[in-house]
Amino acid sequence: MRKWIGGVFVGLVLTVTATVLSGNAWAAAPVREPVLSKESQKCITCHRETNVNIYQQWGKSKHYGANIGCYECHQADKGDADAFKHNGATISVIVSPKDCSRCHAREVKEFEESHHSKAGRILGSLDNVLAEVVEGNSGMVTPGFPKGVSAAAVNGCWQCHGSQIKVLKGGRLDAATWPNSGIGRINPDGSEGSCSACHQRHSFSSAQARQPENCGKCHMGPDHPQIEVYNESKHGINYHANKDEMNLDSSKWVVGEDYFAAPTCATCHMSATPDMPVTHNVGLRIKWNNRPVHPKLAHETDAKWGLPSAAITGDQRRENMENVCVACHAQGFTDNFFIQYEALLDLYDEKYATPGEQLYNAATAVLKRAKGNTYAKFGQMIDFTWFELWHHEGRRARHAASMQAPDYTHWHGTYELAKHFYGKYVPELEELIEANRQGPAAIEAAALEKLLHEVLGSPNHRWYLGQLSDAERAERELQREEFLKRYK
Ligand code: HEC
Ligand code: HEC
Ligand code: HEC
Ligand code: HEC
Ligand code: HEC
Ligand code: HEC
Ligand code: HEC
Ligand code: HEC
Repeated sequence: MRKWIGGVFVGLVLTVTATVLSGNAWAAAPVREPVLSKESQKCITCHRETNVNIYQQWGKSKHYGANIGCYECHQADKGDADAFKHNGATISVIVSPKDCSRCHAREVKEFEESHHSKAGRILGSLDNVLAEVVEGNSGMVTPGFPKGVSAAAVNGCWQCHGSQIKVLKGGRLDAATWPNSGIGRINPDGSEGSCSACHQRHSFSSAQARQPENCGKCHMGPDHPQIEVYNESKHGINYHANKDEMNLDSSKWVVGEDYFAAPTCATCHMSATPDMPVTHNVGLRIKWNNRPVHPKLAHETDAKWGLPSAAITGDQRRENMENVCVACHAQGFTDNFFIQYEALLDLYDEKYATPGEQLYNAATAVLKRAKGNTYAKFGQMIDFTWFELWHHEGRRARHAASMQAPDYTHWHGTYELAKHFYGKYVPELEELIEANRQGPAAIEAAALEKLLHEVLGSPNHRWYLGQLSDAERAERELQREEFLKRYK
């Protein structure tokens, strides 16, 4: 009736339609009885008692309806690194994208080609020094980490980005690395990512994954507040006001056909439009990568990461995104919106990121010369100040402008950028120059002073020195007068 051949599901799935007899004849309805594999039937005999929640969630899922039982997902080969014998079956706890790919090859391929599946690669990055050294220590000792690992990384970074799962004797999983559903988790079978980062087990439902809260587990907070931004936007407001009309349970979920009220994160970044299919590569609709210090074209960063989507240019990605917008908005409205957004990117980059980075490099040269072997990144306040300027405030302003959140663009974005650039960064640089006028770093300090002078004297910043040009002063005066006239 049904067979597994080389991991491919073939044959007929028979569903028995039974009529449930109930006391009320009108309530009698056809009910599908799942025809589960022998192995899965056995799992259930115990697990419907030991894990009622898992059993119930699975029982409500589409998988249940399609006869996909516990064993179909948890089965393992004896040779798998994390396989263990369990009541007569060989299984593993981890069900990796490779396991799901037996039935969902397209979704897995798209996901594997996306930044999401690569998010675990940050584990070796320079940022990681923050969690491992600056914030943390190596006090968490487990069999997998006899020399210890930072509990800040385990409970923080890894829970969003993913751990590298370590398997102990007998298929047990190391406590530092599991539980973990980080989106770029590195699995024992070598595959990258975790599908249950978005599809909560054991319901594995599209409806749940389409909701903004789903993405908000990771896309939130001071350095990438996308869920806060969304909730502030007209889109978020309309979504919350009309959630019941969103048709979230529909198997086909095409914007402009199956729902109209508002887009969710999934609508814009993943779901189908009348012309575009669903994609599990969330990068294919974004032109700019706003994570680095400077906005970078997304296909250029993809090339650096060796992703096949490097071939899809920023302009093509913009067209893809606009295809979503025009399912609801006019083309001219959409075009103008993107002009507004990109102007903010230019403002940020010209006024803060470019000079800020040059000043940081010059300041670091002073510190390295002055401190010699005792220099350490994040060993002085200026490292935190610059880091927060681009990594927190600078990203917030960009992310908020891209998704229509004026408060995050301004008060949490450009306002904070200005406050910290002029109120913290410049004074800290001046202090550094003063402290090093004499001594081993005098040459580097002089170079920093010259650069700071140039930056503050430039058109973007000279207001700070009270040096607006005559034309600029006249323009400001004119605006003030017009304002007063209008509201007299
Ligand atoms: C005879 C009863 C029984 C059967 C049959 C059974 N299990 Fe279990 N299983 C258990 C119990 C009890 C636990 C909890 C053990 C524990 O707490 O360490 C467990 C634990 C597990 C775990 C978690 C292991 C871990 O280390 O976190 C998984 C996954 C699992 N079972 C899957 C299955 C699958 C899949 C099947 C069918 C192929 C199955 N079980 C069959 C009783 C059973
Ligand atoms: C569609 C695939 C799928 C099916 C069907 C499935 N599981 Fe799972 N299960 C998973 C995934 C994915 C995880 C999380 C592991 C991971 O992140 O790799 C998991 C985790 C678990 C865990 C450990 C997590 C915990 O909360 O303790 C247990 C136990 C478990 N499953 C039991 C079962 C049982 C029992 C059934 C059948 C009633 C079942 N699973 C059906 C995919 C599946
Ligand atoms: C709340 C979940 C969460 C935590 C905790 C977290 N990150 Fe992230 N991180 C993200 C998200 C989401 C992004 C992508 C943001 C975006 O696209 O705007 C990201 C982006 C990054 C990037 C940029 C990747 C790129 O493509 O340029 C690095 C590096 C990074 N994180 C490192 C870390 C480190 C190291 C830690 C711990 C010290 C950490 N993150 C903690 C969610 C998290
Ligand atoms: C970033 C979140 C996210 C991750 C990670 C994710 N999915 Fe999805 N998935 C979704 C969303 C959202 C939908 C609903 C798309 C729509 O609107 O129809 C979906 C839909 C699906 C569907 C229904 C058919 C379809 O393509 O629409 C399948 C099957 C699926 N995902 C499998 C997977 C597998 C397998 C993985 C792991 C490789 C995975 N997903 C990882 C968000 C995610
Ligand atoms: C043995 C085959 C098989 C495996 C393995 C499998 N699935 Fe499925 N999955 C299916 C089938 C069949 C359906 C369609 C059910 C339907 O439409 O009624 C489905 C549907 C889905 C859906 C769409 C549910 C919805 O609400 O529309 C998601 C999401 C999903 N699977 C995720 C996963 C993930 C994640 C894994 C791995 C952890 C996985 N599946 C493993 C066969 C499988
Ligand atoms: C478990 C954490 C997590 C969840 C849940 C999550 N993301 Fe992400 N997302 C990340 C991380 C981490 C990155 C950065 C990856 C990198 O470049 O290293 C990222 C990057 C992205 C990017 C940038 C992709 C690119 O190519 O530059 C987009 C867009 C995105 N996510 C959208 C979504 C959407 C939409 C959802 C929900 C449907 C979602 N994410 C759910 C963690 C998550
Ligand atoms: C109305 C459509 C829309 C909605 C809704 C939406 N986004 Fe976006 N998102 C965009 C656009 C447009 C961009 C910028 C694209 C570009 O730069 O070309 C973007 C950019 C992003 C990025 C890239 C940030 C980076 O660092 O480069 C991430 C991550 C992201 N969105 C996640 C989300 C999440 C999570 C949600 C829901 C909480 C969401 N988006 C809701 C349209 C949307
Ligand atoms: C599902 C339909 C839908 C999609 C798709 C959609 N929007 Fe919207 N958008 C709306 C609704 C509804 C509003 C609220 C209109 C109002 O203010 O009354 C809105 C509001 C806006 C606003 C605020 C306008 C204002 O006057 O404050 C902007 C800007 C915007 N959308 C841009 C976009 C962009 C850009 C995209 C594509 C990346 C997009 N939208 C995708 C439905 C949609």
